[in-house]
Amino acid sequence: MSADADDAGDAADVLTLRRLWQQTADVLGSRHEARWICEVATALDGDEFEAALDQPVTERMVQHHDAMVARYRSGEPLQYVLGRWGFRRLDLAVDRRVLIPRPETELVVESVLDLVRDLPHRRIADLGTGSGAIGLALADELPLDGTEIWLSDADGDALDVARANLAGIGRAARNVRVNQGDWFEALPDGDRFDVIVSNPPYVADGSELLDASVREWEPAVALFAGADGLDDYRRIVPGASEHLTTTGSLVLEIGTDQGAAVRSMCLAAGFRTVDVRPDLAGHDRLVIATR
Ligand SMILES: C[S@@+](CC[C@H](N)C(=O)[O-])C[C@H]1O[C@@H](n2cnc3c(N)ncnc32)[C@H](O)[C@@H]1O
Repeated sequence: MSADADDAGDAADVLTLRRLWQQTADVLGSRHEARWICEVATALDGDEFEAALDQPVTERMVQHHDAMVARYRSGEPLQYVLGRWGFRRLDLAVDRRVLIPRPETELVVESVLDLVRDLPHRRIADLGTGSGAIGLALADELPLDGTEIWLSDADGDALDVARANLAGIGRAARNVRVNQGDWFEALPDGDRFDVIVSNPPYVADGSELLDASVREWEPAVALFAGADGLDDYRRIVPGASEHLTTTGSLVLEIGTDQGAAVRSMCLAAGFRTVDVRPDLAGHDRLVIATR
């Protein structure tokens, strides 16, 4: 056999990144998902990933890749398999200790930004922070000067993830405080906030509408809130005013059928204006109550 033919044979045997990506896409039926798995397995993304497409992958990369594909095919959510997920401008670490940040929660961040962007100073509390998604996105997008953000959660395991993510936001991390505790108990005594924001658990116990993969994989403490899913709003809404400035706002993510109930709670708690807003699909998704 000629040297040329030998080289061609070797080349066909080499597992390049391009071939690994294609094989993964064939197995998963999605080039996007295959790409994300290959990116994590090789620790390459963007231009570096493109530049390495014709390079061979290492045995270690293939092992990491195969383990991720097996986990994904067993039903584990892709976000946990990857161990990371994008939320606004952040690439957050996520695992089974925290809820996977959802696109609709990005709208909650947008609404808080609109409320505080023009204030000279802004103090915000993100209660039930989980991965830190809401509070860290706010810290990342608000001015470095004049911003103070508290992240809290009752669950210490979730706060460990939030702290890991805090370490990844660069200089804005200096504006963030983290404290464990049950809703308002985590906040400093007597301090007032311009905005209290929360995406609390809001699924009714035993709800049949919940996706099986969510029920099986995501933390129950992040999901369920009593027989009608409103138990945590019943605790947060009446307690909020004493932690807000005189013009402060409470911003809550809600389930699509909870707008009327949460609006009534806010009015009963003495909030002057209560605005129920839709998500991009047109479903009620958040409540902004202002004192
Ligand atoms: C729906 S998850 C939201 C996580 C994150 N904020 C997000 O939007 O992706 C609700 C969070 O509330 C926390 N939580 C549940 N009960 C709580 C309580 N009594 N006090 C504080 N946090 C609580 C859970 O641990 C969970 O992290």
